[in-house]
Amino acid sequence: MSHQTLNSPTVIAHHLLLCATPHNNLCCPADPAVGLASWQRLKAMVRELGLETPGRPGGIVLRTKADCLRICRDGPILLIWPEGIVYGGVTPERIERILVEHVVGAQPIEAWIVQRSPFQESSLPLQTQSGSP
Ligand code: FES
Repeated sequence: MSHQTLNSPTVIAHHLLLCATPHNNLCCPADPAVGLASWQRLKAMVRELGLETPGRPGGIVLRTKADCLRICRDGPILLIWPEGIVYGGVTPERIERILVEHVVGAQPIEAWIVQRSPFQESSLPLQTQSGSP
Protein backbone atom coordinates (compact mmCIF):
# COMPACT_ATOMS: atom_id res chain seq x y z
CA MET A 1 0.00 0.00 0.00
CA SER A 2 1.39 3.41 -0.88
CA HIS A 3 1.65 6.16 1.71
CA GLN A 4 -0.76 9.06 1.50
CA THR A 5 0.18 12.69 2.02
CA LEU A 6 -1.51 14.83 4.66
CA ASN A 7 -3.55 16.47 1.90
CA SER A 8 -4.95 13.15 0.64
CA PRO A 9 -6.41 11.30 3.62
CA THR A 10 -6.99 7.60 3.35
CA VAL A 11 -10.68 6.81 3.59
CA ILE A 12 -11.38 3.65 5.58
CA ALA A 13 -14.46 1.64 4.65
CA HIS A 14 -14.03 -1.14 7.21
CA HIS A 15 -11.58 -2.38 9.80
CA LEU A 16 -11.60 -6.14 10.36
CA LEU A 17 -10.15 -7.43 13.63
CA LEU A 18 -9.78 -11.18 13.98
CA CYS A 19 -9.01 -12.90 17.26
CA ALA A 20 -7.45 -15.88 15.57
CA THR A 21 -4.55 -17.18 17.62
CA PRO A 22 -5.02 -15.59 21.06
CA HIS A 23 -2.29 -15.95 23.68
CA ASN A 24 -4.68 -17.22 26.35
CA ASN A 25 -6.79 -19.13 23.85
CA LEU A 26 -10.06 -18.27 25.59
CA CYS A 27 -12.41 -17.91 22.64
CA CYS A 28 -11.38 -20.84 20.45
CA PRO A 29 -9.84 -23.60 22.54
CA ALA A 30 -11.26 -26.46 20.48
CA ASP A 31 -9.04 -26.09 17.44
CA PRO A 32 -6.58 -23.15 17.30
CA ALA A 33 -5.63 -24.16 13.76
CA VAL A 34 -9.04 -22.92 12.53
CA GLY A 35 -8.17 -19.41 13.71
CA LEU A 36 -4.85 -19.37 11.91
CA ALA A 37 -6.41 -20.73 8.71
CA SER A 38 -9.13 -18.08 8.96
CA TRP A 39 -6.52 -15.34 9.30
CA GLN A 40 -4.61 -16.62 6.28
CA ARG A 41 -7.82 -16.71 4.23
CA LEU A 42 -8.81 -13.23 5.37
CA LYS A 43 -5.45 -11.77 4.30
CA ALA A 44 -5.58 -13.54 0.95
CA MET A 45 -9.16 -12.51 0.21
CA VAL A 46 -8.57 -8.87 1.11
CA ARG A 47 -5.80 -8.88 -1.49
CA GLU A 48 -7.77 -10.89 -4.07
CA LEU A 49 -10.76 -8.57 -3.85
CA GLY A 50 -8.58 -5.45 -4.09
CA LEU A 51 -9.89 -4.16 -0.78
CA GLU A 52 -6.53 -2.60 0.17
CA THR A 53 -6.11 -0.79 -3.14
CA PRO A 54 -5.39 2.90 -2.51
CA GLY A 55 -8.18 5.08 -3.83
CA ARG A 56 -10.71 2.23 -3.77
CA PRO A 57 -14.18 3.75 -4.19
CA GLY A 58 -15.85 3.87 -0.80
CA GLY A 59 -12.57 3.42 1.05
CA ILE A 60 -10.06 0.72 1.78
CA VAL A 61 -10.36 -2.20 4.18
CA LEU A 62 -7.90 -2.61 7.05
CA ARG A 63 -7.22 -5.94 8.74
CA THR A 64 -5.64 -6.68 12.09
CA LYS A 65 -4.96 -9.92 13.94
CA ALA A 66 -5.97 -9.22 17.53
CA ASP A 67 -4.92 -11.12 20.64
CA CYS A 68 -8.28 -10.71 22.39
CA LEU A 69 -11.41 -8.71 21.57
CA ARG A 70 -12.98 -9.25 25.01
CA ILE A 71 -15.68 -11.55 23.74
CA CYS A 72 -13.84 -14.74 24.77
CA ARG A 73 -16.46 -17.24 23.64
CA ASP A 74 -17.78 -18.68 20.40
CA GLY A 75 -14.51 -18.01 18.58
CA PRO A 76 -12.64 -17.44 16.47
CA ILE A 77 -14.09 -13.92 16.70
CA LEU A 78 -14.25 -11.34 13.90
CA LEU A 79 -15.15 -7.74 14.78
CA ILE A 80 -16.04 -5.41 11.92
CA TRP A 81 -15.99 -1.64 12.29
CA PRO A 82 -17.65 0.76 11.78
CA GLU A 83 -20.75 -1.37 12.30
CA GLY A 84 -19.45 -2.97 15.50
CA ILE A 85 -20.69 -6.35 14.35
CA VAL A 86 -19.08 -9.39 15.97
CA TYR A 87 -19.10 -12.72 14.16
CA GLY A 88 -18.44 -15.96 16.00
CA GLY A 89 -17.37 -19.40 14.91
CA VAL A 90 -15.27 -17.95 12.10
CA THR A 91 -13.75 -20.40 9.63
CA PRO A 92 -12.00 -19.85 6.30
CA GLU A 93 -15.29 -20.62 4.54
CA ARG A 94 -17.19 -18.13 6.69
CA ILE A 95 -14.49 -15.50 6.06
CA GLU A 96 -15.17 -15.80 2.34
CA ARG A 97 -18.91 -15.24 2.73
CA ILE A 98 -18.48 -12.44 5.28
CA LEU A 99 -16.12 -10.54 3.00
CA VAL A 100 -18.29 -10.94 -0.08
CA GLU A 101 -21.70 -10.45 1.52
CA HIS A 102 -20.99 -8.06 4.41
CA VAL A 103 -17.85 -6.09 3.53
CA VAL A 104 -18.44 -5.82 -0.24
CA GLY A 105 -22.19 -6.36 -0.40
CA ALA A 106 -23.23 -4.48 2.77
CA GLN A 107 -25.39 -7.43 3.86
CA PRO A 108 -24.35 -8.75 7.29
CA ILE A 109 -24.94 -12.46 7.84
CA GLU A 110 -27.32 -12.44 10.78
CA ALA A 111 -27.00 -16.14 11.63
CA TRP A 112 -23.31 -15.80 12.54
CA ILE A 113 -23.51 -12.54 14.54
CA VAL A 114 -22.90 -13.10 18.26
CA GLN A 115 -22.83 -9.46 19.39
CA ARG A 116 -23.35 -5.88 18.20
CA SER A 117 -21.29 -3.04 19.66
CA PRO A 118 -22.10 0.13 17.70
CA PHE A 119 -20.50 3.48 18.40
CA GLN A 120 -22.59 6.08 20.18
CA GLU A 121 -23.72 8.86 17.86
CA SER A 122 -21.66 11.37 19.87
CA SER A 123 -18.45 9.42 19.29
CA LEU A 124 -18.69 9.40 15.50
CA PRO A 125 -15.91 11.23 13.63
CA LEU A 126 -15.98 14.99 13.51
CA GLN A 127 -16.57 16.62 10.14
CA THR A 128 -14.12 19.16 8.77
CA GLN A 129 -15.33 22.67 8.03
CA SER A 130 -15.86 21.76 4.39
CA GLY A 131 -18.07 18.87 5.48
CA SER A 132 -15.78 16.16 4.17
CA PRO A 133 -14.59 13.43 6.56
S1 FES B 1 -9.49 -14.65 23.50
FE1 FES B 1 -10.55 -14.28 21.59
S2 FES B 1 -11.95 -12.68 22.15
FE2 FES B 1 -10.83 -13.02 23.98
